[in-house]
Amino acid sequence: MRIFSGIQPTGAKHFGNYSGGFRQYAATARQGEGFFCVVDLHSLSVPYDPVEFRNTCLDLAAMLFATGLDPEHSTVFIQSHVSAHAEANWLLGAVATFGELNRMTQFKDKSAGKESVSAALFAYPVLMAGDILLYQTDVVPVGDDQRQHVELARNLAQRFNARFGETFKLPRGIYPEEGARIMDLQAPDRKMSTTGGTQLGTVYMLDEPDEIRRKFKSAVTDTGREVRRAPDKPGISNLVEIMAVARATSPAEVEAQYEGQGYGKFKTDVGEAVIELLAPIKKRYLELRGDPTGLERLLARGAEKARATSAPTLHRMYDVMGFVPRVRD
Ligand code: AMP
Ligand code: TRP
Repeated sequence: MRIFSGIQPTGAKHFGNYSGGFRQYAATARQGEGFFCVVDLHSLSVPYDPVEFRNTCLDLAAMLFATGLDPEHSTVFIQSHVSAHAEANWLLGAVATFGELNRMTQFKDKSAGKESVSAALFAYPVLMAGDILLYQTDVVPVGDDQRQHVELARNLAQRFNARFGETFKLPRGIYPEEGARIMDLQAPDRKMSTTGGTQLGTVYMLDEPDEIRRKFKSAVTDTGREVRRAPDKPGISNLVEIMAVARATSPAEVEAQYEGQGYGKFKTDVGEAVIELLAPIKKRYLELRGDPTGLERLLARGAEKARATSAPTLHRMYDVMGFVPRVRD
């Protein structure tokens, strides 16, 4: 089974990204042949800082390895290192329509109220479709917010195959349910998020243990004292989910273990469990980041594998679309 996912290099990653992202990539990667791509080309669709950008991309690559992607088993690479992605984007532009791109809710959300919107933001889902289709992908593990984009990739593949001849496999999105929505510790009605969350309610992957302790101690809880998930107890429900993720167990098991105990000890324990989970990840991350040549070598190897894997599909695209073949001299 071929697995492909793309991850945006957008600033400091938090526990929500671990739960809904990194953890799922590592788990899915074990089920087949995984390609995981730091989608730097996608990031120029919104304003960004070119000075910071290089580091942000390398930080993310290091975090993908640190959270469990094994370079001996999975291919991790940077999108811009494999020019097939930019080329497939342009070629697929032939079958994508203005109307369907204009219906993408992410485009509507991200462009709403902006004075200037880049053409790249509008075309973003076509680039994403190319990412996926170039690898004859079977499954795409992503967050629920990417459902519409994965559907578009399927539609473009179908349309392309019908118009030019069988070229692409139809990919299927997989949307992990468990731990897919970790909430802000201070405002459990909002998703934990770097941009939309509170400072004290967001636990970052690289936070110091004392900081993590402080954040969990001050997490808002609800009335009552039962450690149990309930619709009217968003704070405790969130902590139960976090504990299940940190201890790699189920929320029901966490509830059973804390039956009859109050909130106080539970909050302390969740903090400690998260510290325990993140400590080895942070250690591996710092080792990888402290050895830029080693990290770049891993990424170069990934790019080489990605180039070799995507090349036949890109060539087939040019071929069935009727381009003059390149002749080597
Ligand atoms: P982002 O950096 O927001 O593009 O998210 C990267 C990955 O983390 C995606 O797979 C998201 O679905 C996931 N993610 C982001 N925020 C959360 C959250 N609060 N809870 C669970 N997963 C999240
Ligand atoms: N658009 C995705 C996101 O914002 C990132 C992405 C780019 C992606 N290309 C992809 C995800 C290909 C899966 C497959 O999360």
